[in-house]
Amino acid sequence: MVSRKPLVAGNWKMNLDVEGARTLAREVLDRVSRFRGVEVAVCPPFVLIPEVVRVMEGSAVGVGGQDVSTEVKGAFTGEISGDQLVSVGCRYAIVGHSERRQYHFESDELISAKVKRALAVGLTPIFCVGERKDERVAGRTFERVERQVTVGLAGLDAAAMASVVVAYEPVWAIGTGDVATPAQAQEVHEFIRGLLVRMFGQETAAATRILYGGSVTAENAGELMGQSDVDGALVGGASLKSASFGAIVEAAGV
Ligand code: 13P
Repeated sequence: MVSRKPLVAGNWKMNLDVEGARTLAREVLDRVSRFRGVEVAVCPPFVLIPEVVRVMEGSAVGVGGQDVSTEVKGAFTGEISGDQLVSVGCRYAIVGHSERRQYHFESDELISAKVKRALAVGLTPIFCVGERKDERVAGRTFERVERQVTVGLAGLDAAAMASVVVAYEPVWAIGTGDVATPAQAQEVHEFIRGLLVRMFGQETAAATRILYGGSVTAENAGELMGQSDVDGALVGGASLKSASFGAIVEAAGV
């Protein structure tokens, strides 16, 4: 029986300024450092990362980027490379978030290249998948998620996969308050783990953390993370308040 250390990651999206980020980081650190059994990370906007890293320095709280370029370096205006993220102290990068897929037209193939780039520089990719409302209603949830997982993680071997975290974020649940029921989350998480068994073998699949994201709150987090294949949470709105984020971390374990 493999035990997976839960990961609770806060995706701050395009919120906060430098003051707000510093304050939130301090408060988060204060609230979560006693929960040794949970891995905790925050993903601020790129420009706020150094400030947050300074606060988290020497603690167990990790910092991540919200995206990473497919490219190594050079003339790619507006992009941020994996090496740059590492150089400012990041350990994670969110890859393939639905807001990148939707507003920046990121394809499964592009996201696959980002996963590989993150791994190449030693970052833990938090690789996001999830169906839209119309896809769920049409009964195409599994088909959609299967394509995202198989293309997004194509070409990785089991050793590389050991450093990947998967996040299931149904698009209809993101920022809507319309959270997946624990049973809906578990059903898709179990399906994803089955895909990982097929792609990478039983041992790797059993060790991979699959986070749930989409309207996670202090109130619903415990039941969601209590499902056998839900290994933590990727939190948006509720990660912007240290009280709710702290309570979600607490719900993940001790
Ligand atoms: P909310 O928690 O605000 O629904 O956002 C979820 C999310 O997109 C995290 O990446």
